[in-house]
Amino acid sequence: MSEVVAGPGGLPAAAVVARATTPAGEIALRRRGEIVELIVNGVFAMDSSEVTSEIALADAAGPAPGRVLVGGLGLGYTAARLLDNGVRRLDVVELAEPLIDWAVAGITGQLERVAHDPRVQLHHGDIAEWLPRRTELFDAILLDVDNGPGFLIHDRNARVYAADWLRTAAERLSPNGLLAIWSEDAAPELGRALAGLGILTETVIEVEREGRRFGYALYLLRRTAPAG
Ligand SMILES: C[S@@+](CC[C@H](N)C(=O)[O-])C[C@H]1O[C@@H](n2cnc3c(N)ncnc32)[C@H](O)[C@@H]1O
Repeated sequence: MSEVVAGPGGLPAAAVVARATTPAGEIALRRRGEIVELIVNGVFAMDSSEVTSEIALADAAGPAPGRVLVGGLGLGYTAARLLDNGVRRLDVVELAEPLIDWAVAGITGQLERVAHDPRVQLHHGDIAEWLPRRTELFDAILLDVDNGPGFLIHDRNARVYAADWLRTAAERLSPNGLLAIWSEDAAPELGRALAGLGILTETVIEVEREGRRFGYALYLLRRTAPAG
């Protein structure tokens, strides 16, 4: 059940806008002035003040991408950018069901836009289990469900950084499709797990937040088209 403490607008700093308990822990949205913060499993996951890498994740799929799967709705920055980039069809899988309900109800303008765009389908589920059950192919699969293998918000998300799951994900890509994974830090073990599944590129995105510098990593795996 969602606990909506107060609506956006006229709130004191870091006011809780919405909070709910889920089987995977508490999820909350807070508002600090103009900034929206997302708390996942009781841990600060992201805010709206610095979203360069969320947008870079979407841009990795290229202009006018075909069918794209995003793991983790969050505040909807990656999804909204894909819409701006002209995506043809977008599936978003989100573990926290209340976040989907809040998006549909329009808790932020951006989440409302994503939830109501006819190209988008929001799915409640765990991407670790959802994707292996699918048979269709995606032109891009973009994963931003956790901080990366080195610092997990949900222990169970270790599965999506494991070699066998990544192989399954790569098999769900269309020829020349892209699997892109966001990580808070360089994660050599993730690079090793992806090695051999396609053409691998690692990009570091330097950002500054509250006077501190961070080097977020994007792992980009391009599936090579089968010979012949
Ligand atoms: C950092 S946020 C994603 C941010 C998003 N890229 C954006 O642009 O706003 C991570 C999201 O993934 C969700 N999540 C965590 N584990 C998941 C899983 N196993 N499957 C699907 N969603 C998951 C969290 O609830 C959260 O909404």
